[in-house]
Amino acid sequence: MFYAALSALGRELYFPKGILTQTAEAKRDAHKYNATIGIATSGGQPIYLPALMELLDDMKPGEIFPYAPATGLPELRSLWRDHQLEVNSEMEGKVCSLPVVTSGLTHGLSICADLFCDAGDLLLLPDMMWGNYRMIYGVRRGADIRQYKLFNDGGGMNVEAFRRALMGCADGRKVLAILNYPNNPTGYTPTLEEAREMADCLIEAAESGANIVAVIDDAYFGLVYEEGILKESLFGRLAGSHPRLTAVKLDGATKEDYVWGFRIGFITFSPAADGEAESVHGAIEKKVGGLIRGTISNCSMPAQSLLIKAMKSPGYRQQKEERCRLLKERYEEVKAVVNDSRYAHAFSPHPFNSGYFMCVEVKGPGAEKVRLHLLRDYGVGVISINERDLRIAFSCLEREQVRDLFDILYKAVEDLKYDD
Ligand SMILES: Cc1ncc(COP(=O)(O)O)c(C=O)c1O
Repeated sequence: MFYAALSALGRELYFPKGILTQTAEAKRDAHKYNATIGIATSGGQPIYLPALMELLDDMKPGEIFPYAPATGLPELRSLWRDHQLEVNSEMEGKVCSLPVVTSGLTHGLSICADLFCDAGDLLLLPDMMWGNYRMIYGVRRGADIRQYKLFNDGGGMNVEAFRRALMGCADGRKVLAILNYPNNPTGYTPTLEEAREMADCLIEAAESGANIVAVIDDAYFGLVYEEGILKESLFGRLAGSHPRLTAVKLDGATKEDYVWGFRIGFITFSPAADGEAESVHGAIEKKVGGLIRGTISNCSMPAQSLLIKAMKSPGYRQQKEERCRLLKERYEEVKAVVNDSRYAHAFSPHPFNSGYFMCVEVKGPGAEKVRLHLLRDYGVGVISINERDLRIAFSCLEREQVRDLFDILYKAVEDLKYDD
């Protein structure tokens, strides 16, 4: 089943037996001289520029300057797996591959597209989604993208629309679906019930004969601010749930650890393998290793080393929690302010309960017009994501700025109403 889910490129990929394998063997066995490594060393350490090293006083040259393995530093991969198991109880006992290090989640999504998506393959996405999926899956791989409405009119998640879209195209074919919670741009995470129903839809489609690839984009994992909503990754629930369902988890340090420029993400698989998961994991790792080798070669060594140190440091968890609390305070302020009845005829919020963002639907003028007016006449930057909706990142607003921002937004919409 897993083989059938792979793209033509996915089937072709392999990890080359060349310099990398020979270097690995030499690293293990060349006790006297090792002349295989593609870097320059002196005194057993990589040669480095002190001007660079001074910036990273606590780091050893060997943690900064050499190449990292194509699939990432083994210690970091294990630490990340342990961390995932700790925060995702539903992953316990599930057979999953060891995470492979990617250059951020974007790279992980791109690996996933190369592995599973041929031109014309079906990809289900909500109507409110991270725009880059179109580039990665539509433009680069020629996916046939079908969208469903994320929200129903009552203000919850439109699970029925997802079910209809899925069952409407499943009929024994391969279907990819990207599930991103907390969602960008809406900042919505499903309730536990909605999440269970979404997972059930995918299992039902697999049961009906479709080959399902569920791509779980956990970019904003952990940033949930309400009770009764999904706190764990949907990957845990989907892993091993059906022999025709492959689950792929994309996550990383980018947002979870507030290191956007580090470019460190991870990709973890639970392939539709029907009892042969272990051997399939080996094959996937080689394919992914080959793909990384053939595109970016390997991911940033300094960033991986720094992340290992951070994850092992005693303050790591607490510092993460503190930052999450800070975002939660901003979320609560937005929630308190945005529902002010004064604003109701200018804009109304879409459901939000997590992440970095929230969206408002503008009433009257188009969202792009409001965005430009806000920018030019009020010096306020927001994102217009379609003709009606604006995305507001409370992740980069101080709590004290929230009310003022919505007051300005209100004024801007009112200005334009009387403009026409
Ligand atoms: C939903 C979603 N997925 C993936 C990414 C990409 O993350 P990275 O910067 O690690 O490539 C982003 C970044 O904004 C995102 O919003």
